[in-house]
Amino acid sequence: MSDMYEEFVNRRSVRVYTEEPVADEDLKKILSAGLMAPSGKSKFPWHFIVVKDRAMLEKLSACRVGVARMLRKAACAIVVIGDPSDTDTLVEDCTIAAAYMHLEASSLGLGSCYIQGRGREAENGQTTEEYVRGLLGFPEEYKLQAVLSVGHVGKTMKPHKTEKLFWNKVHEEKF
Ligand SMILES: Cc1cc2nc3c(=O)[nH]c(=O)nc-3n(C[C@H](O)[C@H](O)[C@H](O)COP(=O)(O)O)c2cc1C
Repeated sequence: MSDMYEEFVNRRSVRVYTEEPVADEDLKKILSAGLMAPSGKSKFPWHFIVVKDRAMLEKLSACRVGVARMLRKAACAIVVIGDPSDTDTLVEDCTIAAAYMHLEASSLGLGSCYIQGRGREAENGQTTEEYVRGLLGFPEEYKLQAVLSVGHVGKTMKPHKTEKLFWNKVHEEKF
């Protein structure tokens, strides 16, 4: 078992990608990491939609106002949606799964960025969920949580400065 600390130090949100495609083997590892994430009462309510089609990635980049543009140049998007039936931890479960995929991408030397889907608006004024559902056709009752952009790193980000962590947010014994 290796200590993951260095992964956490080096993990950054990467929004600039090269044109190189992501190898199927790497994509499978990323998706596997999501599928292995913990979930409340082991309901595993997530579904992942992998999008590689360039025209669709271009359309997806308008799912938010301004902050999803990196999808235009990403090798792929992993759209994380959740089935709300029989669970009350949908948001947590899907977010943890997306975070696991983000971390696995980072540990493979790839870049990725979590794009908020839930409760946000698309460029055309629809909710991000309605807009993405219109493009990808997932069922009405399924909830959009996030979109993960993935690609080869086009701009290297600096690791976190461990000496600048907000230790004032950590409380001992009582607040
Ligand atoms: C819940 C959540 C929603 C986010 N939404 C977006 C987003 O819509 N677009 C984006 O570019 N980055 C988004 N991010 C990435 C954050 O901006 C990023 O994590 C933060 O700036 C810290 O940078 P780092 O991840 O490189 O440490 C999101 C991150 C989280 C955890």
